[in-house]
Amino acid sequence: MERANKFVLILIFCAMAIGMAGCETISAASKGIVAPPPVIPGAKFVGKEACAMCHEKIVKDFDETEHARIVVSDENIEGQACEACHGAGSLHVNAQTKQEKRATIVNPKKNPEACYKCHLEKKAEMSLEYHHPVPEGKMSCTDCHDPHSKEGVLPGSAKSIFDKNAVCAKCHEDQTKPFVYEHEALREGCTVCHNVHGSINPKMLKERDLNLCLKCHTQLTFPYIGGNYHVTNVQRGPCWSGSCHVAVHGSNYNKHLRI
Ligand code: HEC
Ligand code: HEC
Ligand code: HEC
Ligand code: HEC
Ligand code: HEC
Ligand code: HEC
Ligand code: HEC
Repeated sequence: MERANKFVLILIFCAMAIGMAGCETISAASKGIVAPPPVIPGAKFVGKEACAMCHEKIVKDFDETEHARIVVSDENIEGQACEACHGAGSLHVNAQTKQEKRATIVNPKKNPEACYKCHLEKKAEMSLEYHHPVPEGKMSCTDCHDPHSKEGVLPGSAKSIFDKNAVCAKCHEDQTKPFVYEHEALREGCTVCHNVHGSINPKMLKERDLNLCLKCHTQLTFPYIGGNYHVTNVQRGPCWSGSCHVAVHGSNYNKHLRI
């Protein structure tokens, strides 16, 4: 227990130290999102170099990720990275059989609790009325995030439109297929309009009204949008209401994205 507390302190300190160089982790520490790793009775921390002996590729990819920056240095603990999610590795490293190997390390598999330990705010987002069915156990954080790779840990960091939305394309073909008339908004990624962890708005929209669209389509000529007078139009409901711009993801028939 005492060791765990000490560990938390070290983690917080490190997160702050890293934060001074790159501002992202400051908020991590101030949000208090660092938590002790899972406990494996009798095991000691060995550091990710020890994992590389047998899991070489995972360790190499992992070095590029934000999670690799959570490094702890102490007389008992070295290079905390992998063990922050999997628990201390010494028994696993020395285990002889596959069965023993599995019994001596934590595999969080598809369990979001492994992630909530540090990303508590995501648990809150996931409990909003409209969310991906992670709390229901129908999908998991790892359907969209691969905790071991840079590209995988943050979908959307890729350069091309396909890569950016590729993670969504796995399950949402209708919105991600190529269209004759594309809506250029999608080049910014699906997340310009959707809060995919959860939202108070139906369809996980960031806004439930015309503000969703006006953040890009505000023009000096408003209420003219695209050259058309829109005052009465916008009174009829959100821009994607019936007979208006219902094909927000793209259209094969109409360049004003109506069908
Ligand atoms: C000496 C080789 C060796 C080292 C070193 C090693 N592992 Fe493993 N690990 C294995 C083998 C072999 C398996 C696969 C067992 C099986 O097939 O189910 C495995 C499986 C795993 C699993 C999956 C367990 C499961 O129940 O599915 C995790 C997680 C894991 N290792 C993490 C680590 C971490 C973290 C480290 C460093 C602290 C590490 N390993 C170091 C050999 C090693
Ligand atoms: C942010 C948490 C996190 C960190 C850090 C992490 N892992 Fe994992 N790891 C997971 C999760 C979650 C799974 C289960 C993935 C799944 O089932 O889809 C997993 C699965 C595994 C597995 C078994 C499945 C496989 O892909 O072979 C191994 C081995 C493994 N991790 C090794 C490592 C090593 C080595 C490191 C450090 C270089 C590491 N992990 C760092 C969360 C993490
Ligand atoms: C030991 C604490 C810890 C655990 C456990 C953990 N994370 Fe993180 N995670 C962090 C920190 C610290 C950061 C960097 C600060 C930030 O961006 O908020 C981070 C960043 C991230 C990012 C943003 C990466 C980027 O490039 O900006 C994603 C996505 C993420 N984590 C997903 C996960 C998932 C999925 C799991 C569970 C498999 C998980 N994390 C488990 C601490 C953790
Ligand atoms: C439907 C796919 C999807 C699922 C499921 C998902 N995420 Fe994400 N997550 C994303 C995308 C896409 C981004 C990038 C957000 C952006 O570009 O605005 C992201 C960003 C993040 C970030 C960093 C930026 C931020 O929003 O704070 C963290 C941390 C994170 N996710 C954690 C999690 C955790 C923990 C879970 C499981 C409870 C989870 N995610 C489930 C798609 C998903
Ligand atoms: C592993 C499959 C999977 C992935 C990957 C995935 N989703 Fe989903 N998505 C679902 C499921 C399941 C639902 C819930 C459907 C339901 O409740 O009928 C859903 C629902 C949605 C909804 C709300 C639909 C509605 O009718 O209310 C939106 C919007 C959405 N996803 C966007 C995204 C975006 C954007 C991404 C990429 C960041 C993504 N999804 C990645 C499986 C996935
Ligand atoms: C310009 C904003 C915008 C972008 C970008 C966007 N969406 Fe949507 N999406 C919407 C709106 C608005 C709705 C609600 C449509 C309705 O209620 O008729 C919606 C609805 C959905 C739905 C529910 C099914 C439906 O059509 O009603 C899914 C699934 C979805 N979007 C997935 C995605 C995916 C995947 C991406 C990225 C490829 C994406 N969206 C990008 C605005 C957007
Ligand atoms: C991320 C920025 C962004 C957002 C958000 C956005 N759009 Fe767009 N939209 C664009 C760009 C860029 C174009 C192409 C240039 C143009 O026509 O202004 C475009 C074009 C259009 C067109 C004209 C298509 C054509 O070729 O004539 C319509 C209609 C449209 N958007 C409707 C919407 C609606 C409805 C919403 C809200 C659901 C929305 N947009 C949200 C960026 C955005």
